[in-house]
Amino acid sequence: MKKTFYITTPIYYPSAKLHIGHAYCTTIADAVARFKRLAGYEVFFLTGSDEHGQKIQRTAENEGVTPIEYVDKIVESFKELWKRLEISNDDFIRTSEPRHHKVVQEVFRRIRDKGDIYKGEYTGLYCTPCESYWTELQLDENGCCPDCHRPVEKVSEEAYFFKMSKYADAVLKYIEENPEFLEPKSRRNEMINFIKQGLEDLCISRTSFNWGVPVPDDEKHVIYVWFDALTNYLTPIGFLDDKEKFKKFWPADLHLVGKEIVRFHTIIWGCILMALGIELPKKVYGHGWLVIGGDKMSKSKGNVVDPMLLIDEFSADAIRYFLLREINLGQDGNFNRDALITRINADLANDLGNLLHRTLNMIGKFQNEILLAPTEGTELDKSLKDMAIDTAKNYRQLMEDMKISDAVKIVWQFISRTNKYIDETAPWKLAKDETQKQNLSNVLYNLAESLRIVSVLISPFMPTTAKRIHEQLKVSQPFEEIQLEDAEIFGKLEENHEVGKPEQLFPRIEIK
Ligand code: MSP
Repeated sequence: MKKTFYITTPIYYPSAKLHIGHAYCTTIADAVARFKRLAGYEVFFLTGSDEHGQKIQRTAENEGVTPIEYVDKIVESFKELWKRLEISNDDFIRTSEPRHHKVVQEVFRRIRDKGDIYKGEYTGLYCTPCESYWTELQLDENGCCPDCHRPVEKVSEEAYFFKMSKYADAVLKYIEENPEFLEPKSRRNEMINFIKQGLEDLCISRTSFNWGVPVPDDEKHVIYVWFDALTNYLTPIGFLDDKEKFKKFWPADLHLVGKEIVRFHTIIWGCILMALGIELPKKVYGHGWLVIGGDKMSKSKGNVVDPMLLIDEFSADAIRYFLLREINLGQDGNFNRDALITRINADLANDLGNLLHRTLNMIGKFQNEILLAPTEGTELDKSLKDMAIDTAKNYRQLMEDMKISDAVKIVWQFISRTNKYIDETAPWKLAKDETQKQNLSNVLYNLAESLRIVSVLISPFMPTTAKRIHEQLKVSQPFEEIQLEDAEIFGKLEENHEVGKPEQLFPRIEIK
């Protein structure tokens, strides 16, 4: 049986259109999902939308439409963005869907029947934009939400509570004993400290609005949006209706989330799963934020970057490349238009684009587009082949370790090496010397093979470009069937293989 891999992104709030920071998170998840498929796993990749809660209800009211009318429109724009960005999700979960309501209510019921949910009175502070409860002590120096620094609201109402305090020690122990559960390490330490300060029971229902999943048998309450949202991860893998599928994909292999919601995914989600008697996910990875010139993106600052416009201008693959290459996953990273253009020109148009163009051009010119049988070759040939194999092997390890930016970088080191190999071997000189015929054939073969390997390795990052290289090389194996092992062998192109004509991969961008 195939190994399986279940990966999720957070489900995004449809309170506004998505920006480049959201696209960053989903692009990483997509690269990992594509890598795992390439490595032979059966992957289930989930993303979606987190549609309930007070903030959405208020926004819809302000716009004079019903919540569902409001979210329907925005969620369409999410789906459109993911399509344009070549996101290969296997399902898209909307928390407003009946299939999801059933799961949330069942989870609530099971935990309540067990005695871990009780009714009480909630008096406290609520941050509506973050949909988070806070205590006086947790507020920032201005008495505002410690996460988003906006004012909180005093709330007092009858509510259901989840006995989180009962699971605090168990979750703490779990985090401490399973270092791979929560990465990077800095986030792990943060969570350990957070739990050690003491966990209170969590208020998990509201009565002041109704846009949410009703509490079973007590419909004036709606279930707290985070309790509702977290269970999304159970819905599409058959929690209620497909035992086999559930067994196949749960526990999730990776919840990829932004650093500010690690707390929900490790502590609250951990407690909910423990109460349900279900295994915890294998890994929660808290990535850093994309900032603009060091600043958080926000409407009020007017610095929100629309990924759709960037895709229109530069192509999805160029944006994906930049996001995956420029930012170290665990840390914050800067988004900068000039840096993006520099990368496109230097790495994509120049290094990769020219390598393909020069290679196909020379095979066309010197050998009528035909690759001839190579021989063992020189020391130089051998060093290029060795580097190809080493790159593929190291790439596998780096991707397994979520060191995505490093994986991109070593592929580009290999591309640079291959460009240098052209300069060192000077095929145009070999072509003028009758005695160098075999040598020339070897060089051209090695270049085509190197590009074939590059196309496999970049396919999780830049699926369209990978396919275009594959097509220009006229690799006979169907692109969809390519596996990572195909990059770990040098010499798969057959003798007398005919390659295609070069087509430009990335035009150079003029800097205005
Ligand atoms: N709806 C919740 C998640 C529920 S998951 C069960 C939520 N939604 S969100 O739309 O506000 O954020 C979704 C994700 O986008 C979070 O992981 C957040 O960290 C990420 N990002 C939001 N802005 C970002 C950047 N500027 N940079 C990188 N990621 C960013 O939270």
